[in-house]
Amino acid sequence: MGVLAQYAQHLALSEKTPRITLGEGGTPLVSAPRIGSALGIELYLKFEGQNPTGSFKDRGMVMAVAKALEDGASAIVCASTGNTSASAAAYAAAAGLRAVVVVPAGRVAQGKLAQALIYGAQIVAVEGNFDDALTIVRRLAEGGEFTLVNSVNPWRIEGQKTGAFEVVDALGDAPDILAIPVGNAGNISAYAKGFREYRAAGKLRTAPKLLGFQAAGAAPFVAGAPVVNPETVATAIRIGNPASWDLALAAVEEFGGGFYAVEDDEILAAQRRVASEAGVFPEPASAAPLAGLERLHREGRLPRGARVVAVLTGNGLKDPDAALRAAAPVNTVRAEFEAVREAIAG
Ligand code: F0G
Repeated sequence: MGVLAQYAQHLALSEKTPRITLGEGGTPLVSAPRIGSALGIELYLKFEGQNPTGSFKDRGMVMAVAKALEDGASAIVCASTGNTSASAAAYAAAAGLRAVVVVPAGRVAQGKLAQALIYGAQIVAVEGNFDDALTIVRRLAEGGEFTLVNSVNPWRIEGQKTGAFEVVDALGDAPDILAIPVGNAGNISAYAKGFREYRAAGKLRTAPKLLGFQAAGAAPFVAGAPVVNPETVATAIRIGNPASWDLALAAVEEFGGGFYAVEDDEILAAQRRVASEAGVFPEPASAAPLAGLERLHREGRLPRGARVVAVLTGNGLKDPDAALRAAAPVNTVRAEFEAVREAIAG
Protein backbone atom coordinates (compact mmCIF):
# COMPACT_ATOMS: atom_id res chain seq x y z
CA MET A 1 0.00 0.00 0.00
CA GLY A 2 2.87 2.39 0.76
CA VAL A 3 3.39 4.81 3.61
CA LEU A 4 1.68 7.83 2.01
CA ALA A 5 -1.62 5.95 1.82
CA GLN A 6 -1.15 4.00 5.06
CA TYR A 7 -0.42 7.05 7.22
CA ALA A 8 -2.07 9.81 5.18
CA GLN A 9 -3.74 11.45 8.18
CA HIS A 10 -0.42 11.67 10.05
CA LEU A 11 1.62 13.10 7.16
CA ALA A 12 1.80 16.64 5.84
CA LEU A 13 0.18 15.79 2.51
CA SER A 14 -1.85 18.22 0.46
CA GLU A 15 -4.50 17.40 -2.13
CA LYS A 16 -1.88 17.99 -4.76
CA THR A 17 0.76 15.65 -3.31
CA PRO A 18 0.93 12.70 -5.72
CA ARG A 19 0.34 9.41 -3.83
CA ILE A 20 3.33 7.62 -5.35
CA THR A 21 4.63 4.33 -3.98
CA LEU A 22 6.99 1.46 -4.67
CA GLY A 23 5.44 -0.53 -1.81
CA GLU A 24 7.62 0.93 0.95
CA GLY A 25 6.85 0.43 4.65
CA GLY A 26 4.89 -2.40 6.22
CA THR A 27 8.16 -4.08 7.19
CA PRO A 28 8.13 -6.96 9.68
CA LEU A 29 8.81 -6.62 13.40
CA VAL A 30 10.55 -9.93 13.95
CA SER A 31 10.68 -11.47 17.41
CA ALA A 32 14.21 -12.69 18.23
CA PRO A 33 13.80 -14.89 21.34
CA ARG A 34 17.15 -16.71 21.07
CA ILE A 35 19.20 -13.52 21.21
CA GLY A 36 16.69 -11.80 23.48
CA SER A 37 16.88 -14.44 26.21
CA ALA A 38 20.69 -14.43 26.07
CA LEU A 39 20.59 -10.67 26.68
CA GLY A 40 17.80 -10.89 29.30
CA ILE A 41 15.43 -8.76 27.22
CA GLU A 42 12.38 -9.09 25.01
CA LEU A 43 13.95 -8.36 21.63
CA TYR A 44 12.30 -7.40 18.33
CA LEU A 45 14.00 -6.59 15.05
CA LYS A 46 12.39 -3.98 12.81
CA PHE A 47 13.71 -5.30 9.51
CA GLU A 48 13.91 -2.32 7.19
CA GLY A 49 15.86 -4.38 4.68
CA GLN A 50 12.45 -5.51 3.37
CA ASN A 51 11.75 -2.12 1.81
CA PRO A 52 11.66 -1.91 -2.02
CA THR A 53 15.28 -0.81 -2.36
CA GLY A 54 16.37 -2.69 0.76
CA SER A 55 16.64 0.11 3.31
CA PHE A 56 14.62 2.49 5.51
CA LYS A 57 15.49 5.35 3.15
CA ASP A 58 12.46 4.47 1.01
CA ARG A 59 10.06 5.76 3.69
CA GLY A 60 11.58 9.21 3.49
CA MET A 61 12.36 9.17 -0.21
CA VAL A 62 8.77 8.50 -1.26
CA MET A 63 7.74 11.61 0.69
CA ALA A 64 10.63 13.77 -0.58
CA VAL A 65 10.02 12.78 -4.21
CA ALA A 66 6.25 13.26 -3.88
CA LYS A 67 6.84 16.79 -2.57
CA ALA A 68 9.42 17.47 -5.28
CA LEU A 69 6.82 16.46 -7.88
CA GLU A 70 4.20 18.60 -6.18
CA ASP A 71 6.60 21.54 -6.43
CA GLY A 72 7.24 20.90 -10.13
CA ALA A 73 10.85 19.73 -9.76
CA SER A 74 12.53 17.93 -12.62
CA ALA A 75 15.74 16.74 -10.99
CA ILE A 76 16.89 15.52 -7.57
CA VAL A 77 20.36 15.27 -6.09
CA CYS A 78 21.91 13.65 -3.04
CA ALA A 79 25.17 12.69 -1.38
CA SER A 80 25.25 9.13 -0.14
CA THR A 81 27.12 6.30 1.51
CA GLY A 82 24.98 4.12 -0.79
CA ASN A 83 21.45 3.54 0.43
CA THR A 84 20.13 7.04 -0.11
CA SER A 85 21.47 6.96 -3.67
CA ALA A 86 19.78 3.62 -4.39
CA SER A 87 16.48 4.89 -3.01
CA ALA A 88 16.66 8.28 -4.74
CA ALA A 89 17.51 6.61 -8.03
CA ALA A 90 14.55 4.21 -7.80
CA TYR A 91 11.91 6.80 -6.90
CA ALA A 92 13.27 9.23 -9.50
CA ALA A 93 13.11 6.49 -12.13
CA ALA A 94 9.48 5.71 -11.33
CA ALA A 95 8.55 9.41 -11.29
CA GLY A 96 10.44 10.30 -14.46
CA LEU A 97 12.85 12.66 -12.69
CA ARG A 98 16.55 13.05 -13.33
CA ALA A 99 18.70 11.82 -10.39
CA VAL A 100 22.28 12.79 -9.65
CA VAL A 101 24.14 11.12 -6.79
CA VAL A 102 27.55 11.94 -5.36
CA VAL A 103 29.30 9.17 -3.40
CA PRO A 104 32.67 8.64 -1.70
CA ALA A 105 34.91 6.85 -4.20
CA GLY A 106 35.63 3.20 -3.38
CA ARG A 107 33.60 3.20 -0.16
CA VAL A 108 30.12 2.24 -1.30
CA ALA A 109 28.97 -1.40 -1.08
CA GLN A 110 28.69 -3.07 -4.51
CA GLY A 111 24.99 -3.83 -4.27
CA LYS A 112 24.12 -0.20 -3.59
CA LEU A 113 26.20 1.03 -6.52
CA ALA A 114 24.58 -1.57 -8.77
CA GLN A 115 21.16 -0.34 -7.68
CA ALA A 116 21.83 3.33 -8.36
CA LEU A 117 23.33 2.47 -11.75
CA ILE A 118 20.58 0.15 -12.93
CA TYR A 119 17.84 2.57 -11.83
CA GLY A 120 19.51 5.06 -14.15
CA ALA A 121 20.98 7.70 -11.86
CA GLN A 122 24.02 9.74 -12.85
CA ILE A 123 26.74 8.82 -10.37
CA VAL A 124 29.80 10.86 -9.54
CA ALA A 125 32.35 9.40 -7.11
CA VAL A 126 34.48 11.97 -5.27
CA GLU A 127 37.89 11.37 -3.76
CA GLY A 128 36.66 12.22 -0.30
CA ASN A 129 34.10 11.06 2.25
CA PHE A 130 30.34 11.47 2.68
CA ASP A 131 30.75 14.78 4.48
CA ASP A 132 32.64 16.21 1.48
CA ALA A 133 29.97 14.91 -0.88
CA LEU A 134 27.16 16.47 1.18
CA THR A 135 28.88 19.86 1.15
CA ILE A 136 29.08 19.69 -2.65
CA VAL A 137 25.47 18.65 -3.28
CA ARG A 138 24.15 21.30 -0.87
CA ARG A 139 25.84 23.84 -3.08
CA LEU A 140 24.51 22.20 -6.26
CA ALA A 141 20.98 22.43 -4.85
CA GLU A 142 21.42 26.13 -4.08
CA GLY A 143 21.57 26.70 -7.85
CA GLY A 144 17.85 25.90 -8.03
CA GLU A 145 18.11 23.21 -10.70
CA PHE A 146 18.06 20.29 -8.25
CA THR A 147 15.94 19.37 -5.24
CA LEU A 148 18.17 18.06 -2.44
CA VAL A 149 16.85 14.74 -1.09
CA ASN A 150 19.28 14.10 1.76
CA SER A 151 17.70 14.07 5.21
CA VAL A 152 18.35 17.81 5.57
CA ASN A 153 15.22 17.90 3.38
CA PRO A 154 12.52 17.86 6.11
CA TRP A 155 10.19 15.70 3.99
CA ARG A 156 12.68 12.84 4.39
CA ILE A 157 12.26 12.93 8.18
CA GLU A 158 8.51 13.32 7.80
CA GLY A 159 8.32 10.07 5.80
CA GLN A 160 10.78 8.16 7.96
CA LYS A 161 8.77 8.83 11.13
CA THR A 162 6.36 6.14 9.87
CA GLY A 163 8.89 3.57 11.09
CA ALA A 164 8.05 4.59 14.66
CA PHE A 165 4.31 4.43 13.89
CA GLU A 166 4.67 0.86 12.63
CA VAL A 167 6.59 -0.23 15.73
CA VAL A 168 3.86 1.14 18.01
CA ASP A 169 1.06 -0.23 15.82
CA ALA A 170 2.66 -3.70 15.95
CA LEU A 171 3.35 -3.76 19.70
CA GLY A 172 0.24 -1.86 20.79
CA ASP A 173 2.54 0.54 22.67
CA ALA A 174 6.06 1.90 22.45
CA PRO A 175 8.93 -0.41 23.45
CA ASP A 176 11.02 0.50 26.51
CA ILE A 177 14.08 1.01 24.35
CA LEU A 178 14.62 1.78 20.66
CA ALA A 179 18.14 0.87 19.49
CA ILE A 180 19.17 2.41 16.17
CA PRO A 181 22.34 3.05 14.15
CA VAL A 182 23.35 6.70 13.74
CA GLY A 183 25.18 8.17 10.77
CA ASN A 184 23.92 11.49 9.47
CA ALA A 185 21.40 11.36 12.36
CA GLY A 186 18.25 11.80 10.29
CA ASN A 187 16.65 8.49 11.21
CA ILE A 188 16.95 8.75 15.00
CA SER A 189 15.41 12.22 14.66
CA ALA A 190 12.63 10.79 12.49
CA TYR A 191 11.79 8.06 15.05
CA ALA A 192 11.68 10.73 17.75
CA LYS A 193 9.24 12.76 15.65
CA GLY A 194 7.06 9.68 15.12
CA PHE A 195 6.96 8.76 18.82
CA ARG A 196 6.29 12.38 19.75
CA GLU A 197 3.33 12.62 17.39
CA TYR A 198 1.89 9.26 18.41
CA ARG A 199 2.23 10.28 22.07
CA ALA A 200 0.28 13.48 21.32
CA ALA A 201 -2.35 11.37 19.53
CA GLY A 202 -2.70 9.16 22.65
CA LYS A 203 -1.37 6.06 20.91
CA LEU A 204 1.36 5.22 23.41
CA ARG A 205 1.66 5.38 27.19
CA THR A 206 5.34 6.06 27.66
CA ALA A 207 7.90 7.04 25.05
CA PRO A 208 10.92 4.76 24.59
CA LYS A 209 14.48 5.58 25.48
CA LEU A 210 16.51 6.22 22.33
CA LEU A 211 19.88 4.48 22.12
CA GLY A 212 21.94 5.61 19.12
CA PHE A 213 24.88 3.45 18.05
CA GLN A 214 27.87 4.64 16.04
CA ALA A 215 30.96 2.85 14.77
CA ALA A 216 33.92 3.64 17.02
CA GLY A 217 35.89 5.12 14.11
CA ALA A 218 33.00 7.37 13.14
CA ALA A 219 31.41 8.40 16.42
CA PRO A 220 31.07 12.19 16.54
CA PHE A 221 28.15 12.09 19.00
CA VAL A 222 30.21 10.02 21.43
CA ALA A 223 33.22 12.32 20.96
CA GLY A 224 31.01 15.40 21.28
CA ALA A 225 32.55 16.90 18.14
CA PRO A 226 32.83 16.17 14.40
CA VAL A 227 35.32 13.50 13.32
CA VAL A 228 37.57 14.61 10.45
CA ASN A 229 38.51 11.22 8.95
CA PRO A 230 35.72 8.79 9.83
CA GLU A 231 36.63 5.13 9.28
CA THR A 232 34.61 1.93 9.69
CA VAL A 233 33.75 -1.34 7.96
CA ALA A 234 30.12 -0.22 8.28
CA THR A 235 30.39 2.11 5.27
CA ALA A 236 26.75 3.21 5.51
CA ILE A 237 27.50 5.09 8.74
CA ARG A 238 31.01 6.29 7.84
CA ILE A 239 30.09 9.90 8.60
CA GLY A 240 32.03 12.40 10.70
CA ASN A 241 29.87 15.51 10.61
CA PRO A 242 26.18 14.58 10.95
CA ALA A 243 23.78 17.08 9.39
CA SER A 244 20.98 16.47 11.93
CA TRP A 245 23.27 17.03 14.93
CA ASP A 246 20.94 19.36 16.85
CA LEU A 247 17.77 17.37 16.13
CA ALA A 248 19.35 14.10 17.30
CA LEU A 249 20.80 15.61 20.47
CA ALA A 250 17.45 17.20 21.31
CA ALA A 251 15.70 13.86 20.70
CA VAL A 252 17.94 11.95 23.09
CA GLU A 253 17.61 14.69 25.68
CA GLU A 254 13.82 14.62 25.42
CA PHE A 255 13.33 10.83 25.45
CA GLY A 256 16.33 9.78 27.52
CA GLY A 257 18.92 7.31 26.30
CA GLY A 258 22.28 8.18 24.78
CA PHE A 259 24.89 7.62 22.10
CA TYR A 260 27.34 4.72 22.20
CA ALA A 261 30.26 3.52 20.09
CA VAL A 262 30.89 -0.07 18.99
CA GLU A 263 34.04 -1.50 17.43
CA ASP A 264 34.09 -2.88 13.88
CA ASP A 265 34.75 -6.44 15.07
CA GLU A 266 31.76 -6.20 17.42
CA ILE A 267 29.62 -5.01 14.50
CA LEU A 268 30.66 -7.92 12.28
CA ALA A 269 30.17 -10.45 15.09
CA ALA A 270 26.70 -9.02 15.74
CA GLN A 271 25.88 -9.23 12.03
CA ARG A 272 26.78 -12.94 12.02
CA ARG A 273 24.84 -13.50 15.20
CA VAL A 274 21.62 -11.86 14.09
CA ALA A 275 21.78 -13.79 10.80
CA SER A 276 22.59 -17.16 12.38
CA GLU A 277 20.42 -16.86 15.51
CA ALA A 278 17.45 -14.85 14.28
CA GLY A 279 17.36 -15.62 10.56
CA VAL A 280 17.57 -11.96 9.61
CA PHE A 281 20.46 -10.68 7.47
CA PRO A 282 21.27 -6.99 7.98
CA GLU A 283 24.12 -5.04 6.43
CA PRO A 284 27.01 -4.23 8.81
CA ALA A 285 25.80 -0.73 9.81
CA SER A 286 22.43 -2.21 10.70
CA ALA A 287 24.05 -4.65 13.11
CA ALA A 288 25.55 -1.79 15.16
CA PRO A 289 22.53 -1.64 17.53
CA LEU A 290 22.81 -5.36 18.20
CA ALA A 291 26.52 -5.00 18.89
CA GLY A 292 25.69 -2.14 21.23
CA LEU A 293 23.00 -4.06 23.11
CA GLU A 294 25.45 -6.93 23.60
CA ARG A 295 28.04 -4.55 24.98
CA LEU A 296 25.55 -2.90 27.37
CA HIS A 297 24.47 -6.36 28.52
CA ARG A 298 28.10 -7.37 29.21
CA GLU A 299 28.56 -4.18 31.21
CA GLY A 300 25.36 -4.85 33.19
CA ARG A 301 23.71 -1.72 31.83
CA LEU A 302 20.81 -3.32 29.95
CA PRO A 303 17.66 -3.36 32.11
CA ARG A 304 16.48 -6.97 32.61
CA GLY A 305 13.20 -7.82 30.93
CA ALA A 306 13.10 -4.60 28.93
CA ARG A 307 11.14 -4.64 25.69
CA VAL A 308 13.66 -3.58 23.05
CA VAL A 309 13.26 -2.85 19.35
CA ALA A 310 16.45 -2.79 17.25
CA VAL A 311 16.04 -1.07 13.89
CA LEU A 312 17.90 -3.12 11.27
CA THR A 313 18.11 -0.36 8.71
CA GLY A 314 19.40 -2.14 5.59
CA ASN A 315 19.58 -5.51 3.85
CA GLY A 316 22.73 -7.63 4.13
CA LEU A 317 22.48 -8.59 0.46
CA LYS A 318 23.61 -5.08 -0.43
CA ASP A 319 27.09 -5.83 0.85
CA PRO A 320 27.88 -9.51 0.24
CA ASP A 321 31.62 -8.75 0.29
CA ALA A 322 31.45 -7.81 3.97
CA ALA A 323 29.56 -10.99 4.85
CA LEU A 324 31.86 -13.23 2.81
CA ARG A 325 34.97 -11.69 4.34
CA ALA A 326 33.60 -12.38 7.80
CA ALA A 327 32.56 -15.98 7.08
CA ALA A 328 34.57 -19.22 6.73
CA PRO A 329 35.47 -20.02 3.10
CA VAL A 330 33.32 -22.50 1.19
CA ASN A 331 34.74 -26.01 1.19
CA THR A 332 35.00 -27.44 -2.37
CA VAL A 333 35.35 -31.23 -2.75
CA ARG A 334 35.09 -33.93 -5.45
CA ALA A 335 31.54 -34.52 -6.74
CA GLU A 336 31.25 -37.79 -4.82
CA PHE A 337 28.96 -38.87 -1.99
CA GLU A 338 31.84 -39.93 0.28
CA ALA A 339 33.67 -36.62 -0.21
CA VAL A 340 30.59 -34.58 0.76
CA ARG A 341 29.85 -36.81 3.76
CA GLU A 342 33.42 -36.41 4.92
CA ALA A 343 33.29 -32.64 4.44
CA ILE A 344 30.23 -32.24 6.68
CA ALA A 345 31.41 -34.62 9.40
CA GLY A 346 31.71 -32.64 12.63
N1 F0G B 1 21.87 2.37 8.46
C1 F0G B 1 22.02 2.35 7.13
C2 F0G B 1 21.94 1.03 6.45
C3 F0G B 1 22.25 3.55 6.42
O1 F0G B 1 22.40 3.51 5.10
C4 F0G B 1 22.34 4.77 7.13
C5 F0G B 1 22.60 6.02 6.44
C6 F0G B 1 22.16 4.73 8.52
C7 F0G B 1 21.93 3.52 9.14
C8 F0G B 1 22.22 5.94 9.35
O2 F0G B 1 21.05 6.72 9.21
O3 F0G B 1 22.12 8.81 8.45
O4 F0G B 1 19.75 8.77 9.24
O5 F0G B 1 21.64 8.47 10.84
N2 F0G B 1 22.87 6.08 5.22
C9 F0G B 1 22.97 7.35 4.46
C10 F0G B 1 23.11 7.06 2.98
C11 F0G B 1 23.93 8.31 4.98
O6 F0G B 1 23.69 7.88 2.26
O7 F0G B 1 22.63 6.04 2.53
P1 F0G B 1 21.13 8.30 9.45
